[in-house]
Amino acid sequence: MERRNFIKEIGMMGGSGLLVSAFPWLHSCTLEAEKEIKGEKARLGVIGTGSRGMYHLNHLLTLPHVEVVALCDNYEPHLKQAAALFPNAKTFSRHTDLLSMPGIDGVFVVTPLSEHAHITIDALKAGKHTFCEKSMATTTEDCLAMYNTYKETGKVLYIGQQRLFDPKYLKAIEMIHSGIIGDITGIRCYWFRNNDWRRPVEHPSLERKINWRLYKEFSGGLMTELATHQLQVGNWVLKMIPETVAGFGDIIFWKDSREVYDNVCLVYRYANGINMTYESVISNKFNGLEEQILGHKGTMELEKGKYYFEEVKPAAGILQLINQIEHRMFDNVSFAGPSWVPETAQKYQGEYVLNKISQTEGSSTVGVVDDGSLELADAFCHSVITGRPAENLVEEAYYSSVLALLGLQAMEEQRIIKFPDEYKIPYLNFA
Ligand SMILES: NC(=O)c1ccc[n+]([C@@H]2O[C@H](COP(=O)([O-])OP(=O)(O)OC[C@H]3O[C@@H](n4cnc5c(N)ncnc54)[C@H](O)[C@@H]3O)[C@@H](O)[C@H]2O)c1
Repeated sequence: MERRNFIKEIGMMGGSGLLVSAFPWLHSCTLEAEKEIKGEKARLGVIGTGSRGMYHLNHLLTLPHVEVVALCDNYEPHLKQAAALFPNAKTFSRHTDLLSMPGIDGVFVVTPLSEHAHITIDALKAGKHTFCEKSMATTTEDCLAMYNTYKETGKVLYIGQQRLFDPKYLKAIEMIHSGIIGDITGIRCYWFRNNDWRRPVEHPSLERKINWRLYKEFSGGLMTELATHQLQVGNWVLKMIPETVAGFGDIIFWKDSREVYDNVCLVYRYANGINMTYESVISNKFNGLEEQILGHKGTMELEKGKYYFEEVKPAAGILQLINQIEHRMFDNVSFAGPSWVPETAQKYQGEYVLNKISQTEGSSTVGVVDDGSLELADAFCHSVITGRPAENLVEEAYYSSVLALLGLQAMEEQRIIKFPDEYKIPYLNFA
C-alpha cells in the first residue's frame, strides 16, 4: 500500500495532524513528512537474512528511498539467498564487520531472539539507526539495556511491532478510544495453531540453529514469538500496563525434545481490575487468532477488523414474523448468546472498521501481506534519513517484550509476578 493510500485508508478525516497526535510514532507516514526526504536514500545493512530477513528485503526492494548496501548472516545458504536479491551489496558473516563498513546509515537486525540485544546495542553504539525485530530480548535486563542505549545514543530505534502500523488496528483503536464499544471491561487475546512449529533441517547438527524457536537458550517460545504482538495491543487499548501476571504453561502435545511450552494460559491484571487473558495452543487451530476488546456496549475484534454491538437493531419485519412463528422467539437475541439459542433471524455478523480488510488465519511464521510490516519498514527508512525517532514506539515494544518475559517467569515459577518498579520506563499516555 502506498504511503498516500495508507493515510487515506485509516480514514482520519481530520488529516495527518490528528493521526500523529493519536499515534505519534506515525509521524514519518504523513504526506508532509514525505516531502522532507525527496530524492534522499537510506543506506542500509541487513543482519540476519533468514525467513523474516528475506521478507523485509523483499519489502525494501519496493521502497524508492532505500539502498541495501550490506548483508550479514552467519549461515551461508541464507546469506547467498539475500545476495541473489541484492548482488551489489557487500556480504559479511560477522555483524561487527558490517557495522565497521563506512557509509551505512541504518541496520535491520532480523536474527533469532537471543541475538537481538547485543547486536542492537553494538549497532546503536556504532552510530547506526536500528530496526530490531520483536521481541526485544530473552531477558528483562537486556530489554532495559536496549532501551537505555537507545536513549543514550540518541539514534533511531524501531522494534518490529507491525500492528502499530496496520490500518485496521489504527482505525479500530481510534474507534475504541472514542467510545464506540463503551467502557472496556475485559481483553481476550489468543493465538491457536495446529503445527509443530518446526522447520526442515538438512543435518542434525543444524537443529538448534534452524529451530532456535524451540529452545530456551534462544527463545521464549510462544510468549516472545507470538504473545508479544498481542500483549502490546492490550496496553495500547488501555493506555497502561498490567500490574501482575499469573499463568500456566506446559508441553502437552509436541513432546519432541523441544524445551518451550506448546500450551500457555495466562492472566494479566491491570490496576483498574481489568483482566487480559492470553492463550496459545499449537495443537488445535479451531479458534485461530484474535484480540477481543470487550466493552459494555460492544466488542471489537482487532484481527478481523470487526466490531459488534451488544444490542443489535431489530431485523426486517418479515424476518421477525417468520422467526417468531418458527422459533417463538423475538429478534433481539444476542449474536453471542448461549449455545442453546437456535438460529434466529438476526444473523448479526458485526461491522467492519474499514472497507478493505486484510485478514490472516495466523499460521505463517514468516509474515503476511498488508499487516503493517511494509509501512513499518518504510517509516523506519524515513527515520533513518531524518534521524527523528518514532515517539512511543520503542516504549510500546519494550512493555510487550517485558510482559512476555514476566509471563514466562510466572509460568515457570508458578507464582504471581508483580511488574518490577525498576523496569518501568516513561510511557507516553497519548490520550
Ligand atoms: N514481526 C513479525 O511478525 C515476525 C515474523 C517472523 C519473525 N519475526 C522475528 O524475526 C526474527 C528472525 O526470525 P526468522 O524466522 O527469520 O528466523 P530465521 O532462523 O529464519 O533467520 C534468522 C537468521 O539470522 C541468522 N543469524 C543468527 N545469528 C546471527 C548472528 N549472530 N549474526 C548474523 N546472522 C545471524 C541465522 O543464520 C538466520 O539466517 C525473530 O526475532 C523473529 O521473532 C518477526
